[in-house]
Amino acid sequence: MTTTVGNVPLIALNDGNHIPQLGFGVFKVERAETAAAVRGALEVGYRHIDTAEMYGNEKGVGEGIHDAGLDRAQVFITSKLNNGFHRPDDARRAFDDTLSALGTDYVDLFLIHWPLPTLYDGDYVSTWKTLEEFKADGRARSIGVSNFQIHHLQELARETETVPAVNQIEVHPYFPNDEVRAYGIEHDIATEGWSPIARGKVLGDPVVIRIAKAYGVHPAQVVLRWHIQRGDIVFPKSIHPQRMKDNFEIFDFDLGDEEIEALTALDKGEPGRTGPNPDTFAYIPD
Ligand SMILES: NC(=O)c1ccc[n+]([C@@H]2O[C@H](COP(=O)([O-])OP(=O)(O)OC[C@H]3O[C@@H](n4cnc5c(N)ncnc54)[C@H](OP(=O)(O)O)[C@@H]3O)[C@@H](O)[C@H]2O)c1
Repeated sequence: MTTTVGNVPLIALNDGNHIPQLGFGVFKVERAETAAAVRGALEVGYRHIDTAEMYGNEKGVGEGIHDAGLDRAQVFITSKLNNGFHRPDDARRAFDDTLSALGTDYVDLFLIHWPLPTLYDGDYVSTWKTLEEFKADGRARSIGVSNFQIHHLQELARETETVPAVNQIEVHPYFPNDEVRAYGIEHDIATEGWSPIARGKVLGDPVVIRIAKAYGVHPAQVVLRWHIQRGDIVFPKSIHPQRMKDNFEIFDFDLGDEEIEALTALDKGEPGRTGPNPDTFAYIPD
């Protein structure tokens, strides 16, 4: 088994599959711009794309991969279940639609996007059992969750057979999310960190800037490198070719322990979140 794809390390998941540690996210990439952005990212060298049904751009992801002239097997594709389709029959239909929008007969990874504990009578267990079907029939090579807190993961462990391969959660220096990450490490659930540069908010931080100057790199590269050295999987989003490139070129320097600690110490606790709290988030698209 190779351990990298290009310069990007491959992380072993608990089901034996492997995922490139660095990918490209497409949240808030306009539908019409997605194919070109994905193609651009693949040309830079990214081989892992993170999308979701709720982003409305799965079709563009499939087109971008096709336009780049790559074989399906060369790209790791993740998508996620729409919040409106947690009931098993709805989830089955939604998964069929995801595959058809992407123009593929399998995804590498399929996630429950949010636990929605205040909706569906708090039942995300039936939803997870439905994802187990997709894994069993091979149409999702790996299955996982997103925005699950420790108590949600414990509930799955009590009620179901399959340990999620990943938990995709908000992680960046203003919200390192270390307790949920630690549960993942203990139970062999890989952590994927979303909004890895806090949507740009951490890039002006004096500590980030000081480290960037010391290493002669861009602030975004410092923060992404921090994630990589902590062992998490990340997929920064940018529609700008130069930023896509910068965000990809993070494998020719190493931060010292002191810098890693200084960045982790930027933790602002709960106010550091850029997104909603998973315990109360209850959004269903129209
Ligand atoms: N599971 C979930 O609930 C969830 C939630 C949020 C995100 N995600 C996933 O995580 C991915 C990444 O998170 P995100 O898109 O929220 O935030 P992000 O990657 O932390 O930040 C993206 C923002 O930063 C800017 N940016 C990117 N690279 C930059 C650079 N080198 N210098 C300066 N600015 C830069 C981008 O602007 P430009 O595009 O204009 O360059 C964009 O506004 C998403 O695309 C999605 O795949 C998942």
